Amino acid sequence: MPLHVERVSHRYGPVAALDSIDLDIADGETVALIGPSGCGKSTLLGILGGLLRPSAGRVTLSGALPADSLNPFTYVFQDFALLPWRTVEANVALALEHRVNAAERRERVAAALALTSLADFASAYPKQLSGGMRQRVGIARALVVRPAVLLLDEPLSALDAQTRELLMEDLLRIWSREKSTRVYVTHNLEEAARLADRVVVLSRRPGRIREIVRIDAPVSDRAAIIPDMQRKLWALIRDEAATADREVQDV
Ligand SMILES: Nc1ncnc2c1ncn2[C@@H]1O[C@H](COP(=O)(O)OP(=O)(O)OP(=O)(O)O)[C@@H](O)[C@H]1O
Ligand SMILES: [Mg+2]
Repeated sequence: MPLHVERVSHRYGPVAALDSIDLDIADGETVALIGPSGCGKSTLLGILGGLLRPSAGRVTLSGALPADSLNPFTYVFQDFALLPWRTVEANVALALEHRVNAAERRERVAAALALTSLADFASAYPKQLSGGMRQRVGIARALVVRPAVLLLDEPLSALDAQTRELLMEDLLRIWSREKSTRVYVTHNLEEAARLADRVVVLSRRPGRIREIVRIDAPVSDRAAIIPDMQRKLWALIRDEAATADREVQDV
């Protein structure tokens, strides 16, 4: 669904985290959010999904929620956040409890497991799985409610380079088969260049939109332009990142 962010600002007490963010995201679009550490990316994602109330401004969805969408927003986090005492299937089914009948629950869980290549792991426990498989569970759990908007906060950051590569391929395949609108926070410029339709570059704190880079080639046909895109994105955030790196942290 189309998502509208209007003049969103956020403060944590004296700390200004975000300053007047305006952004319209189209239905089915994938927007990556990049910017230096502490610039407010997770804060913005929290505001989008309603985990946090912004100090000012508002976020709205336009149109009616699709009939099969049980939640307008769901999250995928870096640390997977799975329940260790539940099987893969039971983790994925969590958000469906007391909301759909048994037949619909089975159908939704089976579809989410198939989409994330987890069908053979339904009865496994999280500790039996690799990091990549755990994050596939995190993704299945978010998709099982068929959210209008999928919010991902550095979903691949805890994974090694090869696993991250596999998951990037998986995400592209998954996204060609489901219709959510997506906001994808990352530090990794290759992920932004490969996965997104547009990349929103935030300045260091308080986060403001510094530039929006549209990536014109379809995601299936980008290999040739990705290095150039990464260089362009790095040129945009380099100075901000260097300044943020030299800053004394107020923990
Ligand atoms: N609950 C909180 N209370 C006070 N300050 C906070 C709180 N959460 C975040 N902040 C501060 O707000 C700023 C933005 O934080 P946020 O986590 O949104 O940044 P980020 O861009 O996601 O950073 P990173 O890239 O490190 O994940 C940071 O300076 C952070 O220290
Ligand atoms: Mg963050």
